[in-house]
This record gives sequence, structure tokens and C-alpha cells, in this order.
Amino acid sequence: MTHPDRLEISNDACLLAIESTCDETAAAVLTRDGRVLGECIATQESLHERFAGVVPEIAARAHLERILPVIDTSMRQAGIGPAQICAIAVATHPGLPGSLLVGLSAAKALALAWSKPLIGINHVQAHIYACGIGKPESIFPCVGLVVSGGHTNLYQCNSPIDWSYLGGTIDDAAGEAFDKVGVMLGLPFPGGPHLSKLAQDGDPTAIPFPRPMLDDTSRLDLSFSGLKTAVRYRIAGVGKQDWNSHHLSETEKADIAASFEQAVIDCIVGKSLLAVKRTELPRLCVGGGVAANRKLRKQLSDACSLHHIELHIADPKLCTDNAVMGALAWERYQVGDFDSLDLDAQPGLLRHRPKR
Ligand code: KG4
Ligand code: ZN
Repeated sequence: MTHPDRLEISNDACLLAIESTCDETAAAVLTRDGRVLGECIATQESLHERFAGVVPEIAARAHLERILPVIDTSMRQAGIGPAQICAIAVATHPGLPGSLLVGLSAAKALALAWSKPLIGINHVQAHIYACGIGKPESIFPCVGLVVSGGHTNLYQCNSPIDWSYLGGTIDDAAGEAFDKVGVMLGLPFPGGPHLSKLAQDGDPTAIPFPRPMLDDTSRLDLSFSGLKTAVRYRIAGVGKQDWNSHHLSETEKADIAASFEQAVIDCIVGKSLLAVKRTELPRLCVGGGVAANRKLRKQLSDACSLHHIELHIADPKLCTDNAVMGALAWERYQVGDFDSLDLDAQPGLLRHRPKR
């Protein structure tokens, strides 16, 4: 449903944004001029920790218990009622089906009960949009890189709502590899931040782990599954079934962590630079949980300075899943581009913005 003219939006107009794509239940009340009036995130890390990965059924059930209190808390924090809300935004794709459905159902129910427009957003594009939140100038057009637990993808982003897929991982996401190598090294879940801390004491050149697909400049794809297996063999020995790293010294573990982290970073930096070169876009914008990694931030920054590429990386607190990045929905609100109540969740990755 598109209205032809741009809508007049007052600076005090509020959007209620909802996020439940994976294992964070989040809501935020956002003004058009970029203020966050209320925000609440309920994380599920403790529920999934003993499985060392997100269990979809557990995630969906936990969202169900938390979604209304999370929305209620963000509205109370903002000190507003339904009358001040002008639209309900919700991440509808990609994500875990059960998790997506909880956020979407809550958003539809509120849109119907409060007679507000409903706006579905792409979670991956919201991670990229997060790079521009709080900045006066637009980050578009750009190459968008999303590097998270579920995705490691490159996009050509002509505008916040006009984008297409350039390439990405053909197997595991970088965050998934961080988390699984974290398990091998006996670190808590999710392993990414812990592994990165351990890596500070290690030598990133100690072990020559592979840089899968980095030399293949014919495509902008990446692969982390084989790298993960290379770490496993390094720890356990070829052909062994045991992932346990108890036999390793702390120095050996730190060297494995640092060498693995460097291999991942080399692949991400290499393919991101190639994407900018190919598209001739002026800037690179990076979001997603792994973008919180300090070493990745530093090495992206060094590489972009060297090649005169403008770089924007989302603020660390906006890298992992949150509802503030749902501000992306303002871009559709201002042109009156709303969804109907039969909007559905799309668990899979979309390669182009769907035609409406
Ligand atoms: O964006 P996000 O919250 O969820 C998805 O959409 O997937 O990303 C979570 C991922 C996890 O794999 C976590 O280990 C990783 O981001 N992560 C990190 C760091 N902080 C979070 N990975 C490496 N270094 C970090 N500092
Ligand atoms: Zn995410």
C-alpha cells in the first residue's frame, strides 16, 4: 500500500519497533529525529548456553513469554501511550521461523488494536542502517556488509530500501564459526567476544589457518566451514572425534584463537574491499554482532584509509540484535509504504528487495 506523497512527520512522532528474529526479544520507541525514548532487550543467552547454540524451539517459546513485557517496558520508559505511536515496525525476514512469528504476531495485533500502519523490515538491512543512526549525513549509497551469527553478506545498497545481494558466505556465518571454535576452546556461549578476548594474548601468525575463497576474486563469496574444521583438526588431530582442548596450554589456546580470528578478518576485509572496487561505491557500511570485534574494526579502518574508502561501522551497542535499528522503517513510513495485516514472515535470505 503506497501513498504517492511523502508524509509530513513531526519530530515528536514515535515509531514502535519490534525485533525477535533470533534470540533477543527487543522493542524500542523511536522518534523521527533519531531519539530513542524507550528501549528494552531481553537476551536468551543463558537459555541456550548449555546447548552451545540457539535452539529454535526454545527461542520461540522464550520470545512468547517476553514479547509483551518487553514492549510494555519500552512504552513505559518512553512515557507514551498508543495515541503517540504513528506506526508499528517489525523485523519479518530473515530469521528463525518460530521467532519471527512471535514478533510479527505481536506487531499485527497492536496494529489492528490501535489502528496503526504496519511496516515489515529486513533485519539484515536494519543491521546496515544502524551505521547511519545518529549521523547527520546519509550513509547511502554504500556497500553494506552484515557480519553476524547468522549472516556474512555483502550488499549493494543504493538507498535504505533499494538493495541487492553481491555475495556472502556459502556455508557458515563468521559469528557461527567464532561460536563453534569458542566451544572447541572451552569458552562460554556465545564464543565470539570471549574468543576475541583470549586472542589478545595470542600470536595471530602462529598457525597458518586457511583463508577460504579469499584468492577467488571472480566472486564475492566467503566460506568459514572449512576454516572451522581446520581449527578442529589443529586441536584434536586429524581423524579424532574429540573436540576437547583440555590438553592444550593457555598459550596454545590463545595462539589458536588469535590465528583463527586473523584468518576470519583477512577474508572479511579482502572481500569487502573487492566489493567496493567492483561496485565503485564510495563507502563501506558494516553492521551485525561480529562488527563489535575490535580487531576487525581496526583492520577494516586501516584498510579503508589505505584505499581512500569512507567507512562506517555501527556503534558497538547497535551491532548485536536490537530494536533501535528498526528506525529503518521511517524510510518506508515517510513515503506511506505500509504492509497489510496478511504480511508473512520470510525465514530465508532475500537477494533483492521484494517488489510490492
Ligand atoms: O547480530 P547478532 O546479535 O545476531 C545475529 O543476527 O546473528 O550477532 C551475534 C554474533 C554471535 O555469533 C557472537 O559470537 C558474535 O556476534 N559476536 C562477536 C563479538 N561480539 C559478538 N564475534 C566476534 N567478536 C566479538 N567481539
Ligand atoms: Zn542480527
